[in-house]
Amino acid sequence: MRAIAPFRVMEILARARAMEAAGRDVVHMEIGEPDFVSPQPVIDAGIASLRAGLTHYTPAAGLPKLREAIAAYYRQRFAVTVDPAHIIITPGSSGALQLVLGALVNPGDEVLLTDPGYPCNRHMVSLFGGIPVPMPVAADNGFTVSPQQLRDAITERTRALMVASPANPTGNLIGIQELGRLYGVLRDNKQSVLICDEIYQGLQYDSTVETALALGGDNVVVINSFSKYFGMTGWRVGWAVVPGWLIEPMERLAQNIFLAAPTPAQHAAVAAFSPASMEILEARRYEFQLRRDFLFDAVNQLGFAMTEKPLGAFYLYADASAFTDDSAGFAEELLASAGVAVTPGLDFGSNQPERHVRFAYTTALDRLETGMERLRTFLRAGAG
Ligand SMILES: Cc1ncc(COP(=O)(O)O)c(C=O)c1O
Repeated sequence: MRAIAPFRVMEILARARAMEAAGRDVVHMEIGEPDFVSPQPVIDAGIASLRAGLTHYTPAAGLPKLREAIAAYYRQRFAVTVDPAHIIITPGSSGALQLVLGALVNPGDEVLLTDPGYPCNRHMVSLFGGIPVPMPVAADNGFTVSPQQLRDAITERTRALMVASPANPTGNLIGIQELGRLYGVLRDNKQSVLICDEIYQGLQYDSTVETALALGGDNVVVINSFSKYFGMTGWRVGWAVVPGWLIEPMERLAQNIFLAAPTPAQHAAVAAFSPASMEILEARRYEFQLRRDFLFDAVNQLGFAMTEKPLGAFYLYADASAFTDDSAGFAEELLASAGVAVTPGLDFGSNQPERHVRFAYTTALDRLETGMERLRTFLRAGAG
């Protein structure tokens, strides 16, 4: 338990909610979930499944209809063929992370992770007795691990490399060619597994959507979710696409850890791929793009150093060193005195967290404008 830190953004959220309960107005740029409710076809399908009495367990690996729908999605959107038997449905991608790391990691195994990165990954590795090995990434290399950096980090204990594209907290993408180069390095050195977290897939604004599954091969695991692009955080449905040798261990672990993902939520998720739902989701993607463009310009004008516009997810990971060398204190003060909630770098690793803050554009454009106005006043007053 000593290796497992709290998810600090949840503490900021709790403080912001307490301020709201006391009558303060807070602009939320800390929350990592879409503000939109799930698309109506999804909600209707969830209700219909409950009305039809579909309230029992599904198989541990998930509802066959949903596994087939996901395979069809890969075929239609990515021209990638996936056997539904290789798709395991889980309670959010968090469930998939548990199964994958549980199946792969032996005590003492090393798992390479980008730093900054999604905090739960390193905690989950520790939970299974593994050693999370951070690989620093920075704005000047596009927040991406280089093949040489990977080569230097690999040891005989390396079990996996975990990357996310688009990534949290940086919003950066790893193109399939770049990913292929990293995979090549992994394969050269040892039979390590590439785990690619594609939970923000679909939320990208300037390029075609890709999947690591296009790499093929026996050592690629993809993790995904209905939480972000599909706007279904609270339903708790995600999935993993795994090579054949991982199917049976993952199913066995699923049977033991959570039995199955929620049944009505799985029926609802099938409807997420319907044309009516996809139309809604694409309109929302465009809305996220407008927000990103506004926020990127605004934080740059205020003096946060951001050279590259992030290409995906709904985050800006901004260098706040012009204002502070204690981003956690800065975030606290910003919330308390200006009513603007952001997440300090501390949540995402140990690579210069004190100079970074994450802005999430998971709130409406007019609220982002209000937030930026307040931030401007806060900075002018010399706070921070
Ligand atoms: C990179 C990344 N992976 C996984 C998750 C887990 O999400 P869920 O369990 O809702 O699919 C998150 C949530 O914020 C995330 O940012």
